[in-house]
Amino acid sequence: MTMSAQPLEARSEARPSAPPIRVRAMGFPFRESGIPRHWFYGNAHITQLGNALQLLFPAGERFFIRSVKHYEDQIRDPELRARIRGFYGQEGRHGHEHDRFFRVLEAQGYEIETLLNWYQELAYARLEPRVPPALRLSITAALEHFTAAMGHNALTSDFLDGAHPVIQDLMRWHAAEEIEHKSVAFDVLQEVDGRYVVRVAGLALGLIALTRFWAAATKHLLAEEARMGTDMEASAGIMRTTPRFIEEGKRRRRMFGKAILAYLKPSFHPSDEDDYGIARDYLESIGRLDA
Ligand SMILES: [Fe+2]
Ligand SMILES: [Fe+2]
Repeated sequence: MTMSAQPLEARSEARPSAPPIRVRAMGFPFRESGIPRHWFYGNAHITQLGNALQLLFPAGERFFIRSVKHYEDQIRDPELRARIRGFYGQEGRHGHEHDRFFRVLEAQGYEIETLLNWYQELAYARLEPRVPPALRLSITAALEHFTAAMGHNALTSDFLDGAHPVIQDLMRWHAAEEIEHKSVAFDVLQEVDGRYVVRVAGLALGLIALTRFWAAATKHLLAEEARMGTDMEASAGIMRTTPRFIEEGKRRRRMFGKAILAYLKPSFHPSDEDDYGIARDYLESIGRLDA
């Protein structure tokens, strides 16, 4: 432990305690549900922004697991060790469900293999080995902060109501579990390398990676849309001029700005934002709080 890292017990005193992390097998009925190609507001652009984020998840979540696993043996606190195991289980399940949804995208006619292979090769075969383990963990902690912020946004806005019901279920379940396990990677990072500079470097690299790969995946899917004959100008025009979409864009930018500022506070901890109740209420509403 470094000088700036505090013992877990001291940190958690004034903070809301994170809930136990339960692993839930979902098995969403993607194939049987007749999910339309444009499952988000019937709009190609809005849908592909959502699909593009999903394309990043399974490989990204496997990277998160590897990053934490590298340091698992150094963690002595039994409670954190149990939370780490729950984190592996939840991230593994998320990847599994999004992977299953990829088969739907392929059945709908989208070619996603090229993008997935490029992403895997560049991000995880070429870049990952060049990044020191502490920075990989720091990138993971930062991205977990963003997935929790996006999860919070998903569960507190009605924007997802415009998605196909099965995708709503997928996204809200993922959102709730991101909130449940949001402190795990950060707590491990604090235990093994609590230096502020490492945290900020992870934030910068994580942000660059998320925005670049998300943009690349969106570009690929929009090219697929054009190939399949979608009226791209009409779709883009609707996205740019519909007040609901403009408002959501602003809300998202505010959310990211707020998340970045919070993370830059030297005293930051994921549990400072006590939104565990939001996750709990949702999981309770679908009868899955206790897995
Ligand atoms: Fe996840
Ligand atoms: Fe996560």
